[in-house]
This record gives sequence, C-alpha cells and structure tokens, in this order.
Amino acid sequence: MKSKVQHQSQAQASTRNLSAQAVTAAVIDRMKSSRSDRFKQVMASLIEHLHAFARDVQLSEQEWAFAIDFLTKTGQSCTSSRQEFILLSDTLGLSTLVTQMNHPSQGKETEQTVLGPFHRESTPQFPLGADIAAGIEGKPLFISGTVSDSHGQPIADARVDIWHADPRGEYDVQKPALDGAMRLRGVFHTDEAGRFHCWSIKPTCYPVPTDGPVGLLLKASKRHPMRPAHVHFMIDAKGFDRLITHVFEEGDRYIDSDAVFGVRDALIIPFKLKRSKTGPDGSVLNRSYYHIHYDFHMRIPRSKPKRQNKASR
Ligand SMILES: [Fe+2]
Repeated sequence: MKSKVQHQSQAQASTRNLSAQAVTAAVIDRMKSSRSDRFKQVMASLIEHLHAFARDVQLSEQEWAFAIDFLTKTGQSCTSSRQEFILLSDTLGLSTLVTQMNHPSQGKETEQTVLGPFHRESTPQFPLGADIAAGIEGKPLFISGTVSDSHGQPIADARVDIWHADPRGEYDVQKPALDGAMRLRGVFHTDEAGRFHCWSIKPTCYPVPTDGPVGLLLKASKRHPMRPAHVHFMIDAKGFDRLITHVFEEGDRYIDSDAVFGVRDALIIPFKLKRSKTGPDGSVLNRSYYHIHYDFHMRIPRSKPKRQNKASR
C-alpha cells in the first residue's frame, strides 16, 4: 500500500524542467496540502512578491549571494539584548506599515507606534514615584500620565511599562559596564484614578545601532540613523488592546526625519523645563528638572478588517 506522502507527491505537479516563469506556481503548488488556509495565503503571496521582485530587478547571482550574506549577518547580530531584525524592519518602514494597518486610531484613542529593538521582558516593577535612572547621571525628568478609556473614564491598575535612552543616547543594553542590569526602564501600575508617575533623566535624540548590517544599509542609502528624543510606553489594561507607543520631544531636530518612521503628530509633546526646586510629588531636588505628561486613551478590541484573499484581489 502506498504511503500518504507518495499519494500527495503524485497529486502535485512535477518540479522538473521549470522555467523562470513556471517556478513560482510550482513552489506555491507544493504547499497546497497545508492544513492552514492562512498559512497558504501568506506564503503564496510572499513567494509571488519575492519572485516578482527578483524578475523586476533582474537579480544577479552576486546580488542574491550578497542578500543571503546580509540576512545571515543580520541574524548573527541578534542577541538576547539586541534585535537587528526588528531594527531592519523598523528602518525599512515595515514596522510602521504593520502597526498602522493593525492599530488605526479613532477619536481620542492614543496612536500606536513602533515597539523598537530595545524593549526588554522582565522589566522590574516599581512603586509610583520611583526613580528608574537608579544612578545614571542626567537632568531630572518627571514622567506623569493618566490611562483612561476613549471616553475619559480612568483605568485603575493598568500596567505601564516605560523605557528610554540616556543623555548620551544609549539604552542600558548598550552599556557593557551594567553587565545586563536594567536602568531607565520600569513597570508601574496606575492608581484608582488611572494616574502614574515616576522620576528618571531626560533622554536625547540618538542613532539606531550602526555597527551591524542595518548600519551598512543606512550608509549605502545615504540616510542618517537618528531618532528624535522620546520615551517608550507599553500599556496593558484588562479589556483593552495593548497600547505600544512613544512620546516625542517637541522641537527635536529629527522630528521630521525619524530613522524608523515612527513619529505621529499626536505623540509630540513639550518636555517642560521647571525651575522650581520641588517636584510635582513634593520631592526636593535643589535643581531644575524637566516634566512630561501624557493622557493615554486605550482602545477596546474591535474586529479586524476583512482580509483580502487572492480571489478578490
Ligand atoms: Fe527608542
């Protein structure tokens, strides 16, 4: 009795003597036994576009080998604290495309933007008012905000994950001396009125990492690697979609040329210099500080737009 695999191979078209045109349909045909319609839809489209791209630019063997080497090095650059593939997606605009397709904001809902390559799992949790700089030097920054629904109803106990760079434009993962210790990042929970606050230091604009394959790509494209100063937020609340966003410093010189295409008008806010020597929470600083405040509005889950299948394209 013939095996199931043998029967399947007989039912599929031969892979012999394929032309440059015929190979596309042959590859897609080989996947037709897959049980997942979504898998087949995504892979068929990927292969069609990938092959069309190669035909469009008449990809040479040297260019194909260069691309394989580039992707290999991109993978080899990834570590537990560095994500070169996310950076590649960000700098090619794919991250913004996927974010905007999946999280179109309506009304008062806060706009989403890219996650970026520097978020870390297992970020420590702190009580409201804690200082997440934990010894890293810089100008004090008071971060405050509220979390509510799109009608302004406060959300208590929302999980607010905050992370950002230092005044040198570096994240903790880019500082070998910290030996993996976390700084300038922390998780907070909103109080009964949906409020949160903490202390940190003011970040600055910074270049995305340029010592890997993505850096070479930017250089070849004659693009600068800079991102405007910002603070990242990831907010989770029961019954709402996860919100991944940043707030950007108004007036930053890179606000209109972000290397990862993540800036949205609604996320640009002033980083206000306060000359008072007492913080909003009563802390005595004996020096001036900056203050940022943002009111986040969460989005309730809604059904995704209907996907176009091949037949309707
Ligand atoms: Fe960032």
